[in-house]
Amino acid sequence: MTTHQWKHKDLCALADHTPDELLTILDTAKAFKGVGERNLKKVPALRGKTLVNFFIEPSTRTRISFELAAMRLSADVINISASASSLEKGETLLDTARNLEALRADLIVIRHQSAGSARFLADRLNASVINAGDGAHEHPTQGLLDAFTIREKLGCIKGVRVAIVGDILFSRVARSNIQLLTKLGAEVTLVGPSTLVPATFACLGVKLAHSIDEVLEEVDVINLLRIQHERQRKEYFPGLGEYTARFGLTKKRAERINPECLIMHPGPMNRGVEIDSDVADGRGSVILDQVTNGLAVRMAVLYLCSGGVPFAPVASAANSLS
Ligand code: CP
Repeated sequence: MTTHQWKHKDLCALADHTPDELLTILDTAKAFKGVGERNLKKVPALRGKTLVNFFIEPSTRTRISFELAAMRLSADVINISASASSLEKGETLLDTARNLEALRADLIVIRHQSAGSARFLADRLNASVINAGDGAHEHPTQGLLDAFTIREKLGCIKGVRVAIVGDILFSRVARSNIQLLTKLGAEVTLVGPSTLVPATFACLGVKLAHSIDEVLEEVDVINLLRIQHERQRKEYFPGLGEYTARFGLTKKRAERINPECLIMHPGPMNRGVEIDSDVADGRGSVILDQVTNGLAVRMAVLYLCSGGVPFAPVASAANSLS
């Protein structure tokens, strides 16, 4: 086990981190997953610290798992939403965040519609800022929990062939996955209509495909992204029916994939659009494992950004957290 404290106070983007750092977060998360499987699931690592969950956009998985992660680490937690804050009265994001800091918030978890919002606050606050999704930029803990799940199920990330399918252009989940998976040696293919998977993405070290049928039989992981139809994406393809016909993981297509292939989705799912309901609930689906792993990953991130010492060997880590 290393004895060096984690040197980053914030987690704004996986693009900021080296492969070794990303592996260290995953190793530390593995130790915390062990903690979550014990009878006594709570550890005192963040006792006395205060975390504010500040979600300007809706969330189920991310908000609740950050809240639960903080509770498992014995931190105090406050949840605030845009509609229940003075942002509604015109207060700026920075003024709101400075007031949270004045109330001695140690960690601020923020989800915001603007790319760069987490970094903007991180550069101006002493509190740790954790990005829970900033516009179409990054969703770092989603990228980490996806990688954690792949590593847990397949034993490694290097050399694993991953297809990320759907609305890549506007997806923060895709960007965080691309950053992490390419740094750790996975072979990533982005799949979707050319309007949502433009050629410029090739410079990120990934392959591009414009038909799911091209990649189905050749990948170890299929990560299906949500079609964000509430954000007027319809002009990027003729319609939802057309999208499903060309890119949906239907039951028929699922019969063609490698039996060991992992089927992933960050949620929330549009059942019957990007993924058939039977496929989402069937063999190979690790969608709920992703949610479970999100808790361990978020415990690790909160712990490390609070100056925790990273863990490597799983057994000693779990023991020393008691
Ligand atoms: N995957 C994800 O970010 O889900 P939520 O929007 O429910 O947090």
